[in-house]
Amino acid sequence: MAGDSGAFDDLLHEDRRFDPPADFSRDAVAQPEIYTRADRDREAYWADWAAELEWFEPWSTVLEWTPPHAKWFLGGKLNVSHNCLDRHLDGPGRTKPALIWEGEPGDTRTYTYEELHAEVCRFANGLRSLGVGRGDRVTIYLPMIPEAAVAMLACTRIGAIHSVVFGGFSPESLADRNNDASAKVLITADGGWRRGQPIRLKSNADAALERSPTVEKVVVVRRGGTLSDTLGVTMEPGRDVWYHDLLADMPRTCDPESMDAEDTLFILYTSGTTGMPKGVVHTTGGYLTQVAATTKAVFDLKDDDVYWCTADVGWITGHSYIVYGPLANGASVLMYEGAPDTPDQGRFWDICQRYGVTIFYTAPTAIRAFMRWGEQWPAGYDLSALRLLGTVGEPINPEAWMWYHRVIGGERCPIVDTWWQTETGAIMITPLPGVTTTKPGTATRPFPGIEADVLDEKGDPSHAGYLAIMSPWPSMLRTVWGDDQRFRDTYWSKWDGIYFAGDGAKRDDDEYFWILGRVDDVLNVAGHRIGTMEVESALVDHQSVAESAVVGKSHDIKGQAIAAFVTLKDGIEPTDDLMAELRAHVGEKIGAIAKPEMVVFTADLPKTRSGKIMRRLLRDIAEGNAVGDTTTLADPEVVRRLKQKYEEDG
Ligand code: WT7
Repeated sequence: MAGDSGAFDDLLHEDRRFDPPADFSRDAVAQPEIYTRADRDREAYWADWAAELEWFEPWSTVLEWTPPHAKWFLGGKLNVSHNCLDRHLDGPGRTKPALIWEGEPGDTRTYTYEELHAEVCRFANGLRSLGVGRGDRVTIYLPMIPEAAVAMLACTRIGAIHSVVFGGFSPESLADRNNDASAKVLITADGGWRRGQPIRLKSNADAALERSPTVEKVVVVRRGGTLSDTLGVTMEPGRDVWYHDLLADMPRTCDPESMDAEDTLFILYTSGTTGMPKGVVHTTGGYLTQVAATTKAVFDLKDDDVYWCTADVGWITGHSYIVYGPLANGASVLMYEGAPDTPDQGRFWDICQRYGVTIFYTAPTAIRAFMRWGEQWPAGYDLSALRLLGTVGEPINPEAWMWYHRVIGGERCPIVDTWWQTETGAIMITPLPGVTTTKPGTATRPFPGIEADVLDEKGDPSHAGYLAIMSPWPSMLRTVWGDDQRFRDTYWSKWDGIYFAGDGAKRDDDEYFWILGRVDDVLNVAGHRIGTMEVESALVDHQSVAESAVVGKSHDIKGQAIAAFVTLKDGIEPTDDLMAELRAHVGEKIGAIAKPEMVVFTADLPKTRSGKIMRRLLRDIAEGNAVGDTTTLADPEVVRRLKQKYEEDG
């Protein structure tokens, strides 16, 4: 199991407890009775949440469950962009800011609900004019600019299925995703800013398009400002069209498609245990119901909040908690393009102060970076508007939790540590900020209406074991795009009709859940999921590499870092240059986030007699731990030599 279970035993004895402040509890959106209501009749409870959305036609059945396939709100018809935009236009919502955007160089744009609606309608009309319709796949490869949200919403308006690809992914990763989904259109930009450097998205897209035969049209957003003068992109006539040209004559209204609750809303690729990421499929009614419900109840959303989630729209957090959840609730959403340390390490706090951010949702890896940069940065800004803090992406270590509570939250803001996954679509285990007594390091209890447990291998409840979801939930993934067998094998083959999340977990005496990290060959590097197999295939793709094994290694800021053990082909010399070349090669194949932190050259890898690489031993070596049982190894000497080499290399 991942994680050091000795250290986690200590965690379970955490005795610091934080009750919600009384005034927060009194005014909280979610009150204690929500748990009783959900327990009494789970389907009726979820139907109540669904009824807060606007449906063109009502559903006839709340849930149909033929494991592992669930359908929610059968027969119901709705449109996501209609729910996120149109229904806020009657009344004061019309002129309320929907999206408040700040670019890294400091340029800003704000869209009211009325303006965002018009922009989405114009783009939806533009996409229709390119021949995009219901069920067509559209890849979105954009920086964190308003057009990313506009593009997603425009797809939902016309019933097209979007697949957002994180802008940090390589051309090759982009092409793989275009091809797996048979995307018809790609939406990209000339570029974006990151740490003062332009990111050349269009030239990456061009490289990907050389081997993306299904893509017929490419829409290119001009990022604007000084960037567009710098980049000088090439447009291929007949294929590429500028976003602003496409929208020029488009009407500001567009009839939304009436979609079935179970129509696919989007695909989002996420790393698994094989080389090719999985296309996680989410549908319309259930997904929107649970993201809207959790945004409102977990973030205690009120009309005058300024809500900021620092994720990128390329990940599920950006989908659910920058775009769909907050906009479905009519919130004012802040969106920031760039890095937290540009121009200096006070950038986030400067943004919080200037916009009066009230709700702030980020990742433990970011919090650990803020800690390292020092308290003087947040101390230089007025953070008194903040009233609620959230974290997501990996287990938060208690020191980071305490720092967040004290330095950012001024000891007054509840912290919601939210556990969920790309596959779950929405938050699953979390405190309710006005109800739950929190303890640093635990995501506490399942959201009302979610049934989670910790099970052993056989499926019996256990205080330590695997995190399991016991019954279907509205925003669950429905399948893996084009590969239902992989869906069954990955999530539903361990126990009968019970979802296997891939995380290890423990429960304490308060029945709180402590998430210990992944138990499969998936790493969590700075809150991003990376499959060890993906990195291994990128390494063996290099002409010098014979074999490789990749494992995670603890890292102070990133949580985990990638350690690669590599054997070279006969006659190839292990040099520092080659090491740098291999790291760069992985960056080119997958994207910078997948570059190994360290590469160790070795003559042999530890293998069992049947030839299986023993990753457990490599993890021990990478962590500098005493190496565990080696009796099943074909050649125990390999480990001794490797450990010695590793220690010498430092
Ligand atoms: C994996 C899912 C959910 C959006 C971001 C990541 C880990 C996530 C927590 C948390 C402990 C967490 C798990 C999970 N994880 N949130 N609050 N405490 N671990 O989405 O890329 O699909 O990764 O992130 O290991 O399985 P993702």
